Amino acid sequence: MSFKIILQLLLAIVLFQTLISFVQCELCTSLPATSLDCDYDESCDFMNTQKASCTVKSGITCEGSQTFNKEYICRYCYQTPEDNHICSNEIDCSVKKYEDVYLSACNASDYTFCMGSRSFSKYRRCNFKQYKSYKTSVILSITLGGFGADRFYLGYIGKGFGKLFSLGGLGLWTLVDAILVIFKYTKPADGSYYN
Ligand SMILES: *[C@@H]1O[C@H](CO)[C@@H](O)[C@H](O)[C@H]1NC(C)=O
Repeated sequence: MSFKIILQLLLAIVLFQTLISFVQCELCTSLPATSLDCDYDESCDFMNTQKASCTVKSGITCEGSQTFNKEYICRYCYQTPEDNHICSNEIDCSVKKYEDVYLSACNASDYTFCMGSRSFSKYRRCNFKQYKSYKTSVILSITLGGFGADRFYLGYIGKGFGKLFSLGGLGLWTLVDAILVIFKYTKPADGSYYN
C-alpha cells in the first residue's frame, strides 16, 4: 500500500469519527422532555408560557449545563394538542357503529413539555375504513337486484347467492329487497351505518 492511500484512509477515519461525535453530542437544552426532570408549576395560569427548571436525568450525556430553564405552556399532558400525542391504534373498529369511540392509551410525545402524567387514556373516534353507500345500495338493488348485487354489496353473501340462483326469487324477492333497501330497513350486514 502506498503512503498516499494510508494517509487517505487515516483522513477518512478521522473525518468519520468527527462526524460520529458531532451526531452524538447533543446540547442539554435540546434534549426531549423525557430525558429531563422539570419542576413544572401546576398552579400556573392555564395556557400561559412558563419557565421550569429542568435537570438532565442521570445516565444521559449532553453538552452544556445540566440544569437550565425551559419554557413550557401551562397545561397538563392530556390537554396538549392531538398531534402531540402518540396513541395505540390496536383496537379494531371495523364492525362497530358509525359514531363509536374507543378508549386509547396515549403518551405525550417526547418533545412535548407538559405537566402531570405523560401517559393518559382518551376517547378517540373510530375511523371506519369501509362504509356502505346508501346511494350505491339503492342503485344496485334497482338495477342488478335480480342477481343479488345489493345483497352482495351489503355483505349478505348467502342471501346474495340465494337471489342469484333463484332468479331474484322470480322477481318478487328483487322487488321486496329494493323496497327494504330504499327504506333503509336492510342495513349493512356488519352493523355499520350507511354513508
Ligand atoms: C407509553 O409509554 C409507556 C411507558 O413509557 C410505554 O410502555 C407505552 O408503550 C407507550 N404507549 C404508546 C402508545 O406509545
